[in-house]
Amino acid sequence: MSELSLSLGPFQGITDAPFRNVFKRHFSGIDKFFTPFFTGIHKEEHAKNLQGEEIDPRCNDVETLTPQILSTDAEEILRFAKQCRQLGYKEINLNMGCPFPRVANKKRGCGLLPYPDNVEAMLDRVFEEIDIKFSIKCRLGYFNPEEIDAIIPVFNKFRLSELIIHPRIGKQLYKGEADVERFKAIIPLINAPLVYNGDIVSVESFERIRDLVQPVNQFMLGRGLLANPFLAEDICRDASNSSERIKRLHAYVLDLYEDRLRHAGGSPKVLGRMKELWSYLMNSFEEPQVVWRKIKKINALKEYEDAVETIFKEIAIK
Ligand SMILES: Cc1cc2nc3c(=O)[nH]c(=O)nc-3n(C[C@H](O)[C@H](O)[C@H](O)COP(=O)(O)O)c2cc1C
Repeated sequence: MSELSLSLGPFQGITDAPFRNVFKRHFSGIDKFFTPFFTGIHKEEHAKNLQGEEIDPRCNDVETLTPQILSTDAEEILRFAKQCRQLGYKEINLNMGCPFPRVANKKRGCGLLPYPDNVEAMLDRVFEEIDIKFSIKCRLGYFNPEEIDAIIPVFNKFRLSELIIHPRIGKQLYKGEADVERFKAIIPLINAPLVYNGDIVSVESFERIRDLVQPVNQFMLGRGLLANPFLAEDICRDASNSSERIKRLHAYVLDLYEDRLRHAGGSPKVLGRMKELWSYLMNSFEEPQVVWRKIKKINALKEYEDAVETIFKEIAIK
């Protein structure tokens, strides 16, 4: 069996470059990161969208970060691949999982899954020219979990560096449960190195899923790690004691806030991203709803700073 490897899934609006860098300074256990998806790679050289710190190799580790694109246009994917390769990246990832209707209804994201012929035509063209590793992240389908059956033979035609499957359908968005049994059933049908993603929220859920999906040994963590940043360390049996944990969690939250604030030139717009993180992180505490009530209505920096101090002083972590 291959060695256990854990990655962190991309989250638009949360896991940007400041998040990834601060996270890595404070926690271990994650071997690989993904950027939230890029779109609009219109130009052959130096697309505007690929100029910021989100992808700049001076702000990111090209060895462990895979840039992601949301597109159905093979030419755009090739432009993205070329520019990422020039920046030093080793792999790109195609998003075929985004479930939001304004994306999926245009046959983008998971909206492409019911159309295997379109996927094949797109990948035929991409693989004619691509000279960087290419992986795909997808769901079981958009409307139903059988859609994957017709897509697997298409994926098998190509040398994917990885196939990450989040076993929900698009219509579920992020609700209901990941269908681990369905994932298990398709394992033998897939040629590419397979990565499981979905509903890993604790060491127990990780172990249950890992036992079910053997021999798969690559896992992408998602909301579980946003809620509990110690999750990857816990899975790797590198757990720290609770007084140490509270100090480390506090330091991480402060560092991320200060880093975001520096990047935003002190603007209160950082509060949006911090609140989004807290909507998950509240679950690290014994009383998540009390935590959330203190955070959700805040719209001034000072109020936020005071609320965070109160939370760490008054509410125990799990
Ligand atoms: C707010 C939000 C933003 C997301 N953004 C992306 C994205 O940009 N690209 C992507 O592939 N997945 C994205 N995802 C999906 C997650 O990476 C992950 O696949 C999903 O949450 C399932 O894993 P989990 O059950 O462990 O959370 C997003 C999910 C949420 C809730």
